[in-house]
Amino acid sequence: MTHSPETPVVDALADAVGGPVPTTERPFPTERPAGCPFDPPAAFAEARAEHPISRLRYPDGHLGWVVTGLEAARGVLGDIRFSSQPPGKRSPVIGPEDAPDPSVLPKGMFVNTDPPEHTRYRRLLSKHFTVRRVQEMRPRVQELTDGLLDAMERDGGPVDLVEAFAKPLPTLVTSDLLALPEAERPQFREHVDVLFSLSSTGDEMARALTGVNAMLNELIAAARANRGPDLLGRLVAETELTDEELFGVSLMLLIAGLETTTNMLALGTYALLRHPDQLAALRADWSLIDGAVEELLRYLSVVQVGPIRVAAEDFTFEGQPIRKGEVVTVSLPAANRDPLGFADADTLDIRRAATRHVAFGSGPHQCMGHHLGRLELAVGYESLLRRFPGLELAVPVEEIGNREMMVTYGVHALPVKW
Ligand code: HEM
Repeated sequence: MTHSPETPVVDALADAVGGPVPTTERPFPTERPAGCPFDPPAAFAEARAEHPISRLRYPDGHLGWVVTGLEAARGVLGDIRFSSQPPGKRSPVIGPEDAPDPSVLPKGMFVNTDPPEHTRYRRLLSKHFTVRRVQEMRPRVQELTDGLLDAMERDGGPVDLVEAFAKPLPTLVTSDLLALPEAERPQFREHVDVLFSLSSTGDEMARALTGVNAMLNELIAAARANRGPDLLGRLVAETELTDEELFGVSLMLLIAGLETTTNMLALGTYALLRHPDQLAALRADWSLIDGAVEELLRYLSVVQVGPIRVAAEDFTFEGQPIRKGEVVTVSLPAANRDPLGFADADTLDIRRAATRHVAFGSGPHQCMGHHLGRLELAVGYESLLRRFPGLELAVPVEEIGNREMMVTYGVHALPVKW
């Protein structure tokens, strides 16, 4: 057995006992510690202290695994024996009853595929998300950001930062990416708001999804007709992707890029407001912004449920016997707080070099939009904080509600004044 340097004690123990290290069987914890809404549920640290990969009881009774150690997380996400395909996949938390059956997802949602199918999609798509391509978007992202901040300033405050800034910025950037005509953007935003709102009814969701589907299909038809310089136009001109695949790709960009960036923008601002020393350090030296983005990504790890994988065969991993069909959930918040990966892992320190975090995942499925996400966060935080030097919460912290039971962690609303 190979030892990762980060897990010598447990692996040595497995060697000594000549077999797997038994771990406590747990349900997936979701409750955050009282007082610190930024820390992952305490049960993850207990699990990690036993072993970086331990037993997890899924809501339907399935006995699978949860990964809480940083190197083990990288190991699972980089190993294609842990499949991303839907058959057998299950969530470690109970989701909405009418969640779509993953086996009927449209083709092109390549986050749910394995090589070689996955490799093909990545090859076709990733050249549109390189650092260079994303840097070309910087002036436009700045313009969109400034427009939202102008509106906040005109309003005078207090405003809910989620509604006024954190939701619209990624929605506008995505609208640009998909070349959505200006006239259709308000309608698109309404649909997206309904889709991602907790208070939407099933009927409202269904109507919004139908609306988004129709808009995407229109965009694909326009791209076929015009073959313009935008993403869909280029994909039509350069690839043989079918309309269904283009639809799946576009839908995935929406699902993957909106909630994540929105919650990072709002929760990151909240975290800075709750850590005045860190905020002051950033305000004193804006060259710290990229490091601050990296550290906030690590510290907050908003993707709190999953990535989820299914073992495609029997094998031993980190000394544990993995059986074909067993489901493995990687806890990114837990891995990013692994003390073997980061000194003082539970401390927010914007000066640390948090480069090895897994907030964007790792391995073949590592976030394809990570440069774009980073750009939106860097431009978003810096512009917001520069525009409003006196930015502060407009309500007591006890009134800020956290998104505990949701796939993406964050705050429901963030009332601020300046
Ligand atoms: C700060 C914001 C973001 C975070 C925290 C984030 C996080 C993640 C994570 C953890 C994964 C891995 C999923 C897995 O392994 O199964 C992922 C995949 C992905 N993300 Fe992001 N993401 C962000 C922003 C974006 C943006 C802005 C886009 C595009 C516009 C995007 C597009 C994608 C795509 C296409 C995938 C699938 C990649 C694949 O399966 O090969 N993400 N993201």
